[in-house]
Amino acid sequence: MKGIILAGGLGTRLRPMTLTTNKHLLRVHDRPMIHFPIACLVNAGIRESLIVTSPKHIPDFRRALGDGRDLGLSTLDFASQEGEHGVAHALLQAESYAAAQRVCVILGDNIIEKNIRDPAQRFNAQKSGARILLKETDEPERFGVARIEGGRVVEVVEKPPRPSSRLAVTGIYFYDESVFEICRKLTPGIRGELEISDVNNAYARRGDLEWEMLEGWWADVGTPESLERAARLVASSGANHP
Ligand code: G1P
Repeated sequence: MKGIILAGGLGTRLRPMTLTTNKHLLRVHDRPMIHFPIACLVNAGIRESLIVTSPKHIPDFRRALGDGRDLGLSTLDFASQEGEHGVAHALLQAESYAAAQRVCVILGDNIIEKNIRDPAQRFNAQKSGARILLKETDEPERFGVARIEGGRVVEVVEKPPRPSSRLAVTGIYFYDESVFEICRKLTPGIRGELEISDVNNAYARRGDLEWEMLEGWWADVGTPESLERAARLVASSGANHP
């Protein structure tokens, strides 16, 4: 399984810091944010990874990460995403890299306390399909929200004004090799972007979407407040440190 870290976006809510650098290179406690998703993959045994980001930031990532070996990767590659067309569009830029293998996709601004070793193993044991990780939150309207019926996730609704549950879909996804075919068929959602929730819905419609709860704390960094919170959590309880 290969790892794909999506680290594009404008980081508008973190301006002015993001006027001069990519959001995922900002400091979280004692290291750049991007170290955490890398460590999350490495700790799950995924040592070949790709970072998808805007072409202008690739040299900065290379300077910050070198060849990735110090962080436990065996290979580190980059792919460019031009423009802001959504998470699923960013993922499409990884198609040739994935080379018809299964992938673990992680959003570069998601930081977790524990590791995803067990979920990765359970995904490996799946014959096909996808696996998502859910976390209870007090602000489900900020995320993709899972609607569960009869123990199955039957739908993921992106940022619902009236959420059907408190179960947010975290930015860590396992997909089989059909994910790119699904992405290519998507049409933009209300945000005008190709939504990762629609990818998950395609698997749900096929009855091939598995889920489990994520253990430990989860931080999604998009604002100064959430950056502070993530830094506090990392400092107090540690996280997927390399
Ligand atoms: C994205 C996904 C959303 C998911 C979230 C997790 O939201 O679209 O479904 O819950 O990441 O971090 P975005 O960060 O694009 O607002």
